[in-house]
Amino acid sequence: MKKIVLGLAISLAAGACSMMQPPPPPLNDGELALPADYKTWPKFLSNIQKAEAKQIREIYVNPKGHSQSTREAGFPYGTQFVMEIYSATPNADGTLNRGNLAKVFVMGKDKGWGANAPESLKNGEWIYSAYLPDGKASSDSPVACRGCHLPLAPKDFVARYDEYFDKRAK
Ligand code: HEC
Repeated sequence: MKKIVLGLAISLAAGACSMMQPPPPPLNDGELALPADYKTWPKFLSNIQKAEAKQIREIYVNPKGHSQSTREAGFPYGTQFVMEIYSATPNADGTLNRGNLAKVFVMGKDKGWGANAPESLKNGEWIYSAYLPDGKASSDSPVACRGCHLPLAPKDFVARYDEYFDKRAK
């Protein structure tokens, strides 16, 4: 009987240990994977026309970022954005025809993320990844992402911040 109780105690202890795994280590640029299910996420903004760049963009935000963000506090830890970039051809009247998917940009924020970024390019705890349509990493430099999103600090480094909260308020 004693043996059985001891065996039980050991297996319970082992179970508890495997449940108490340390949290995953913080990520840096290029390490945030393309989320497989992002097309099921809420739309952040849709059909953004970039005539000069000959692109159309679709932006998704994950359910946590959507439901737990506020205009006052910004976006919580665990937020992720996915931005699809489609190439587009201009029509004579200036409108755009959507072409193929060219790239997929991802940005996410969590506690301690982006710690290895240069001090002058720290965007809070946001990190950046860029993918090709086949899911392979693209060669876009995270330094460029950071440089362009850095001045957006008052808006939690999110470019279309006001537009999104305006849309949600309607
Ligand atoms: C030239 C400036 C510039 C660079 C470089 C840039 N971004 Fe952005 N980013 C923007 C702007 C402006 C928007 C708003 C959407 C739009 O107008 O295209 C945006 C939007 C986004 C969004 C949607 C959320 C938001 O902020 O509105 C993500 C995700 C994103 N960028 C990721 C990246 C990643 C990843 C890189 C680098 C691979 C990158 N960006 C490089 C300017 C830039």
